[in-house]
Amino acid sequence: MRLDKFLTECGLGTRSEVKKLIDENAIRVNGTCKVSPKTSINEKEDIVLFEGEPISYKEFRYYVLNKKSGYVTAIEDYRDKTVMDLLPDWVVRKNLVPVGRLDKDTEGLLLFTNNGKLNHQLVSPKSHVDKTYYVETENIISQNDIKKLEEGIDIGGYVTLPGKVESLESKKILLTIREGKFHQVKKMLESVDNKVTYLRRISFGKLTLDDLELGEVKEVELEEII
Ligand code: URA
Repeated sequence: MRLDKFLTECGLGTRSEVKKLIDENAIRVNGTCKVSPKTSINEKEDIVLFEGEPISYKEFRYYVLNKKSGYVTAIEDYRDKTVMDLLPDWVVRKNLVPVGRLDKDTEGLLLFTNNGKLNHQLVSPKSHVDKTYYVETENIISQNDIKKLEEGIDIGGYVTLPGKVESLESKKILLTIREGKFHQVKKMLESVDNKVTYLRRISFGKLTLDDLELGEVKEVELEEII
């Protein structure tokens, strides 16, 4: 692989930015900084240093975004801004796609990866990854509503799997579901004659938002996800 491609895929910047680093002698390959963007390297064997620190090549990458409202979960959209527009420059975008989807007006945790197999596993109807949503509603959520949401509810031809509800206030709950049907949380609340006024996903599998600010991204490792 060419050195400039390697450095770009390691997240050190765009092709022109990494070329600048090479020109500034900030990159060493096997002890020498006499390298060019075209230098061929073996990403598994060669030792590449940036300002003295080793750079490791990762085939698969995982990023968590705290999604803002107003962005559609898509790679491209002719009308709306997409979640890809929220990814900062340091993110390696090659083959990167979101895992599942959040609605345009939903905030919170959205995972991205270039690991197609894992992505498929995580969104497969059989996978049953726990997802917890912070939900605000228009009307009061009764104990009976909570019971229905927890037992499984008909959202229009489909009965949801049992979920878990933690009541926070009369119109605020944490709802944990193990599926990801289209508009599932909104439909579940509609089925108890209510309406979601605000929705934020706060966890996905083992991942949580923690102190990630709205619009911020962090890189995570596979072991942190499932
Ligand atoms: N359920 C919804 O209704 N919307 C989302 O964005 C996610 C889950």
